[in-house]
Amino acid sequence: HLSTTSVARAGQIHEMIVIGGGLMGAGIAQVGAQTGHKVTLVDLNQEVLDRSQARIQASIQRVAKKQFQGDPSAGETFVQSALANLQIATQPHAALATADLVVEAVVENLELKRKIFQEYDAIAPAKTIFASNTSSLPIGDIATATQRLDRFGGLHFFNPVPVMKLLEVIRIPETSDATFQAMLDWGQAMKKTTVKCQDTPGFIVNRILVPTMMEAVRMVERGDASTRDVDTAMKLGAGHPMGPFELADYVGLDTVKFILDGWHAKYPDQPLFKPSDMLNQLVDSGKFGIKSGEGFYKYEKK
Ligand code: 3HC
Repeated sequence: HLSTTSVARAGQIHEMIVIGGGLMGAGIAQVGAQTGHKVTLVDLNQEVLDRSQARIQASIQRVAKKQFQGDPSAGETFVQSALANLQIATQPHAALATADLVVEAVVENLELKRKIFQEYDAIAPAKTIFASNTSSLPIGDIATATQRLDRFGGLHFFNPVPVMKLLEVIRIPETSDATFQAMLDWGQAMKKTTVKCQDTPGFIVNRILVPTMMEAVRMVERGDASTRDVDTAMKLGAGHPMGPFELADYVGLDTVKFILDGWHAKYPDQPLFKPSDMLNQLVDSGKFGIKSGEGFYKYEKK
């Protein structure tokens, strides 16, 4: 029965699995390891895992340099103990036997996410909480692939994960109070500030950020202002660290388009979610932003 199922209680999430070795998955695994959790980062592709491990090492060094200025030996201890908390694996089975929490951060493909959670659900112990880091898919649509709706929620991080202080904690109607509290407590243990949100499109940040980016695109499409001037205006006039076009290039134009198209398909009458020719053309021509070398701006290949 739902209400009697015991979950990893408040403060009891010690062992976690992160699924997906991309930018977000690596960042979540890193922060978990840095804050003393036993972390297993799972990805089917060993090359992806090797790349994430290198990225995590570089990022932990950056964090250590900042946190332990003037005390390199304490910094080195921090780096080594964080790395010791982190395992990589192409299969989850061993780690799943004792995991308190699974955080999924694979590509935004509903069927793939459902398939993974269905497989994990069959193997994981009853106590294990499942969560998705999806930016735009409904948590409820993912959760129904499992038999543990009461132990399912959303844990949405922001890029770059080691730097951004926010964690959105999302509940579906079936999420139990114990599960929700355990997720909030875990967020605190991860040294993030948590906010609570229902399972609504984009949760809090993306629901505001994506329409803001699109409003900026529409201004430029109308010829009201230039890309550069919109960015300058929002940085110097509104205090944003990046302008909307810089941020779109940073997040990835393919990602922005994917989020927008998904919402538009579901809510065709919502003008804030209307597609844009300019964005579609950039994505169609392979201009995804920083990662492809060009988006709204051009970047030097690293
Ligand atoms: N790992 C560790 N540390 C990092 C890092 C990383 N990957 N990236 C940056 N840092 C640290 C740096 O060491 C630096 O520390 P310092 O201040 O002590 O030198 C600090 O962060 C600032 O970095 P930089 O000096 O390189 O650059 P900036 O000052 O320009 O800051 C930024 C970079 C933090 C990315 C800042 O521009 C910013 O906050 N931008 C907005 C980011 C944002 O809005 N993200 C959310 C996107 S939406 C999202 O993720 C949701 C998804 O679902 C789509």
